[in-house]
Amino acid sequence: MPPDPALFNLLQAYSALKHPRFLSFPSHLPFLQVHDFVLSCILLDPHLLQYPPSHAYQLSFWKWAIEHLEKLLGDEACTSLPFISVTISKPATHDAAAPPPPSFVTHYWRPAPQSGPPGAIPSTENHSVTLFESRTTIESGTTGLRTWRASFVLAQFLIQNSTVLMNKSVLELGSGTGFLGLIVADIQVSSGGVTGHPVLYLTDVNEDVLRRCHENTQLPCNASHCHGNLSVKSLDWFDALAQDGVPSIEATLNNMKPELVLGADILYHPDMIAPFLATLNIALRASKFPAGGTAYLALTVRSADLLNSFLLALRGSTSFAYACWQINRLTILILSGPQLVSRRTATLQS
Ligand SMILES: C[S@@+](CC[C@H](N)C(=O)[O-])C[C@H]1O[C@@H](n2cnc3c(N)ncnc32)[C@H](O)[C@@H]1O
Repeated sequence: MPPDPALFNLLQAYSALKHPRFLSFPSHLPFLQVHDFVLSCILLDPHLLQYPPSHAYQLSFWKWAIEHLEKLLGDEACTSLPFISVTISKPATHDAAAPPPPSFVTHYWRPAPQSGPPGAIPSTENHSVTLFESRTTIESGTTGLRTWRASFVLAQFLIQNSTVLMNKSVLELGSGTGFLGLIVADIQVSSGGVTGHPVLYLTDVNEDVLRRCHENTQLPCNASHCHGNLSVKSLDWFDALAQDGVPSIEATLNNMKPELVLGADILYHPDMIAPFLATLNIALRASKFPAGGTAYLALTVRSADLLNSFLLALRGSTSFAYACWQINRLTILILSGPQLVSRRTATLQS
């Protein structure tokens, strides 16, 4: 039987290192039910023992959890919590003033009912992706060593609309440590045989980021591990503007032939707009489809000026048609390649 949603939320929060300040304790449930769940499904869960949250996080989580468990139990607390008490009493080796250390992070999710093969019984099983990633915004001079919110939003969209991925070769630009790519790989693996998955390219410019991304795709707990056609590759958007870089980026993208291009939180400086759009233009033209490929982008609105400059550049370009909508402080864009421009523009205007 699936656990009570409030308990599952606790597991999701712990494995994704959500700060206890933002958690709600399931105080409405009986003590034993909560205690047994946190003991067997969180503290002693084999996956979380192998890919644990950082020690610093565990310490703050268990302190919070035990305080609430004790409140729930009343006077009997001390005798009933031996395991958890032992764990929390381990000394922290991390300097509290230093930035939080990198950690394993696990995200649980459930495929949408339509994502299986036709006629299949919808899965009620949770899927998960695990990454080793930074807990700071910028580390070693790059923003790519952790997952950004735009990736979560785009992943949610793809999970709910997984048919857009069906049998498509996929290219991700600026993939960071690979969260979105791991979700795509999982969907591709779940909806196909062990061999013959559509190609999936995760690309970035930073060597540390690419190494981390590759390592994450190779973790045996991730479905990406048994994806037969996944590659992590270096691709610098600035090559699309450099005279001597264009032939090589064109050759790379023509070889990939991406039918679907993804990008999450890939713009944070005005200087990135032109090279990014030049790359996207080549990528969409390189598609196997005669009409060109499609791109799904999720952009964090860091500044209205940056977003407006990007939309202005898109509007001024004859290479793209796009639809765009906003969710909180995120902008989601669907772009299509050159041949579809007039058709899409007509659709959007009507
Ligand atoms: C804010 S991070 C987003 C990472 C990931 N997409 C996410 O949403 O979690 C931006 C990513 O773009 C990559 N990037 C920046 N400039 C780039 C360039 N010129 N070519 C390719 N990737 C670039 C960075 O290395 C970084 O991984």
